[in-house]
Amino acid sequence: MLGFLRRDLILGIDIGDHSIKAVELRVGGERPVIVNAGLIAMDISAEREGEMMRALKELLGAMKPKAKRAITDIPSSDEMVIMRTLFIPEATPEMSEEQIEEATRSEVEQQDYIPYPVDNALISSDLLGEATVDGQKGVEVFFVAVHKELPEARARMLKKLGIQPLAIDVDVLALARLIGWMGIPSEEDVAVVDIGATKTSVFFYHDGKPIFYPHIPHGGNELTEEIVRELDVEWSEAERMKLELDGETAREVLVGSRVKEAIMRAMERPQGLLQALRNLFEHYTADLPAPQKVILTGGSSQLPFIDDLLLTKLDLPVERVSYLDLFDVDDRCDREMIKANQPLFATAVGLALKPALRVGR
Ligand SMILES: Nc1ncnc2c1ncn2[C@@H]1O[C@H](COP(=O)(O)OP(=O)(O)OP(=O)(O)O)[C@@H](O)[C@H]1O
Ligand SMILES: [Mg+2]
Repeated sequence: MLGFLRRDLILGIDIGDHSIKAVELRVGGERPVIVNAGLIAMDISAEREGEMMRALKELLGAMKPKAKRAITDIPSSDEMVIMRTLFIPEATPEMSEEQIEEATRSEVEQQDYIPYPVDNALISSDLLGEATVDGQKGVEVFFVAVHKELPEARARMLKKLGIQPLAIDVDVLALARLIGWMGIPSEEDVAVVDIGATKTSVFFYHDGKPIFYPHIPHGGNELTEEIVRELDVEWSEAERMKLELDGETAREVLVGSRVKEAIMRAMERPQGLLQALRNLFEHYTADLPAPQKVILTGGSSQLPFIDDLLLTKLDLPVERVSYLDLFDVDDRCDREMIKANQPLFATAVGLALKPALRVGR
């Protein structure tokens, strides 16, 4: 059976709160090739699980991927997903991967790090290195724990659509995989800010390694809500207005400026996205050197003026993620569409690059 599957093709399916993004990648050659990419917005007023299934079915129907294997994701913002750095006393870097995994599991259990029985958790760990805490030697480990029901539900959904789930990852880890794969020199400190629909995820690269922060609960949905309120329009109309900010006719320019005002108002609230980002950066730079630049990604980073806003608020150079030069793009694929939407597809590309949390491990 497996012999019939195209083993060189893999789908990365990023299921966000707002939309599903899918990228089909051909791997194994000198450079990965993007052979197919597509996205579909979900109806956020519909029942979540059913709508996810409906939208994914429609997306796959439109894309008709040849790949029959996929890696999909769960959001880091789910309360059942726990990611953190952990000190394991008496452990050493010489221990085998299995021993480190075992030690992590027992430390997680003893310290009550997760809000459900450890038997229900899938845990994966990465050794960060030796550390000494309160005079005691040990190792530091970065661990991710998810309640196994989350990846299992995702896997069931893919199987129903005839797709074999190869792995289920956490969205922000998939993004970090892409950024890491793009190559961050170890002497360079970089911040990555992923502005989605309901959340903004932030991590920093220091010494060539990512340092993750808890997500900020702000994103594009609240900008759309503000447009709905201010311009007294339906949600779908407000979404369209947000995406078509740079119209050319006099009327479009007028509406565009009112839409922009509404977006700015939402972002500049005392408890809004910009201030939350600033607080997070201040917290980070209290201990570690300021990053040399900010890489922006996620759908909401495609707002035309957001880079300037962040430059002013964070006082750091800001650029949108740009990875397409590292890929070939198949002729049948709309290169310009992907190029214009690199921030939207970044996590899906990161998913397709390599599995992380294996189903049933
Ligand atoms: N060109 C654009 N200009 C402005 N906003 C955009 C643009 N394209 C997408 N967005 C907004 O980006 C958001 C969706 O981004 P993204 O797909 O990264 O989020 P998601 O992954 O679905 O959600 P989350 O990561 O929060 O779970 C929506 O609010 C959408 O309106
Ligand atoms: Mg997302």
